[in-house]
This record gives sequence, structure tokens and C-alpha cells, in this order.
Amino acid sequence: MSEASAMRSVDLRSDTVTRPSAAMRRAMAEADVGDACYGEDPLVNRLEATIAERLGKEAAIFVPTGTMSNQLGLGVHTRPGDAVVCHERAHIAMWEGAGGAANAGVQLVTVASASGLPSVEALAAATPPSGAKAPRARVLALENTHNAAGGIPFSPEELAPATAWAKARGMACHLDGARLFNAATACEVRADAIAAPFDSVSVCFSKGLGAPVGSAFVTSRALREEADRMRHRLGGGWRQAGILAAAALYALEEHVPRLAVDHARAARIAEAMVRCGVARPTHAVRTNLVCFAVDAAWGTARALQDRLAERGVLLYDTGPQTGRLVTHRDLDDDDVAYVVAAFEALG
Ligand SMILES: Cc1ncc(COP(=O)(O)O)c(C=O)c1O
Repeated sequence: MSEASAMRSVDLRSDTVTRPSAAMRRAMAEADVGDACYGEDPLVNRLEATIAERLGKEAAIFVPTGTMSNQLGLGVHTRPGDAVVCHERAHIAMWEGAGGAANAGVQLVTVASASGLPSVEALAAATPPSGAKAPRARVLALENTHNAAGGIPFSPEELAPATAWAKARGMACHLDGARLFNAATACEVRADAIAAPFDSVSVCFSKGLGAPVGSAFVTSRALREEADRMRHRLGGGWRQAGILAAAALYALEEHVPRLAVDHARAARIAEAMVRCGVARPTHAVRTNLVCFAVDAAWGTARALQDRLAERGVLLYDTGPQTGRLVTHRDLDDDDVAYVVAAFEALG
């Protein structure tokens, strides 16, 4: 690495590491607020109306996290003892502390798929049959982009067979759209086209969109009412949350249009790791996530993580030979060039 690219810190562990920009902080500082539990916070109300409209739904509810939003999705569509069908590495299956079981009392039925989007055949084979002995399969929960499968975006056409299959069986469809706008950007469609077949969608402002906190559960008016009760039960009824809604509104306005930049930077880093013979992506890189396999001849994923960390570049190993990196709005072109140079130095 040259003198010019002296040690810097580039955090590629997640798009959740972003910090609010000066302009976003200004919008937060100037937020007009009220008690959101009384329905009196103007910016929370505006955010809920805005995101519902963007996704073509009747209503939305602003919550602290994507996890809470997904939990509302599991709760509003089910009764204890029901089953929810999802991908085996879905966020709701792996990273929500068994919230489906603990909060909604549901059984997750997990289905394998390399892409993260199970085929109708795989869904049909895994889903419990009807009958008194089996759990009632009430929900199909999908994820877009799919985090653990490599940030893969699914277009409305790709999602259609699974959601049509679920609807034909009388199941509700929930979408974990933590990175929905990344998916829409990569597929070059509007977010409402992706959201259309789903009865509820969770969307996060705190991932690629760069807000410090916040997600929305977006659904029908009737289910919003039920979700509101559950949110309070989970302790998520907040007060002058307009300070946070201001950041989310700013992110929707200013940061959605620039997501393609993050995607191009992820592709550039992925190309560098292949060129240097260090690692290769496990899937085509189309969004801001790069899941990769480290070349065994080079070393292990832990060794790669450690060697890059010595150069100030942070990413995660996810297995002995696999890892993940994520681009986001706190990077600039110099950071990306620095990461490329770091891979070149290891190749
Ligand atoms: C796909 C997906 N869903 C849900 C979540 C949960 O979001 P939160 O950390 O806000 O609870 C994450 C977090 O990274 C995620 O990647």
C-alpha cells in the first residue's frame, strides 16, 4: 500500500454502522414533536403516512427495530400453535432470539434454498398438511433482499410464484424488507411493486438508508390496530419519537436515490477480491452485501478478517471459509480504493 493510502478505518461489517450526517442531525434537531402514544407527534404521523403510501398500503406503524417490526408481522397473522414458513437462514429464524416462539407462540417451519427464495415445490414439501394433528400453516415469511444468502434482490416476478402459492392455501404473506429499497433499486422497480402481494412488510430506515434508529411495519388499517396493541405489549410505545421520524423521513427523501452507489461499490470490491485470488462472491453481487468464500489456498476467513483488520478494514467471517462485507453511505470513493488496495496487498 502506498504512502498516499495511509492507514484509515473502513467499517464493512454492516450497513447499520452508519452515523447520521450533519444534515440529518439538523433535521432531527429541528423536529416538531408531540406524544406519539397520543397520536400527536406530527413527524411520526407523517412518516407513517409516507411509508404506507410509498409501499402502496393503507397504514404503517413506526417502531424502534426491524426485529420488533417482524415480530408484529408474526403476531398479527397468527394464533399460538400456528406455523410460519420461512427460509432456513431468514433473519426471523436466526437472529430474533426465537421471538416467533417466545412472543407469538408460533412454530417456524424452515425451508432450504441457495438463493434465499424457496421454490414452490420446496415450500409445498415442507409445509405441514392440513388436519388436526398438524400446526396450521398461517404465514409465508420472505426476506428481500435476503441478508444471509448474499444480499440477493428478488423482483416482483420472482416473488410471484411463492406468494401466489401461499395465498391459494389461505396463508398470509409477510415480507422482511429490512433492505427493501436496495432490492427495488437493484431490480429497477418501485418499492410498492415488490410490496404488492404481501399483507405486511417490515422496512428498516437504520440499514442502508442511514437513519440512526427505526423501522416501519406497513400493512392494512385493521392489522395496524392489532400491531399497535402488540407494540405496546412489547414496550414499543414511544413518546416524542418525531426526532427519530425526522431522520427516517430525511433518509427516505435523500438516501433512497443514492443506493445504487453502494451497490456499484460492493461490486467493485468483489471484483478486487476475485482479481487478487483471495476470495470470490458466493452469488452475483447486485446490492450492498457481498457474501464470499475465501480461497482455501489463500487461507481461512478468520485469517482474512484479521489481516484486513490490521489494515483498518473491518468485515466478518461467517464460517471457516466464508465471510460477509457490506457497503453503505458512510464510505467514499477513497475508502473503496483503500479496500481494493488492501485486497491487492493480500493477493
Ligand atoms: C434482513 C434483516 N431483517 C431484520 C433485521 C433486524 O433489524 P434490527 O437490527 O433493527 O432489529 C436485520 C438486521 O440487520 C436484517 O438484516
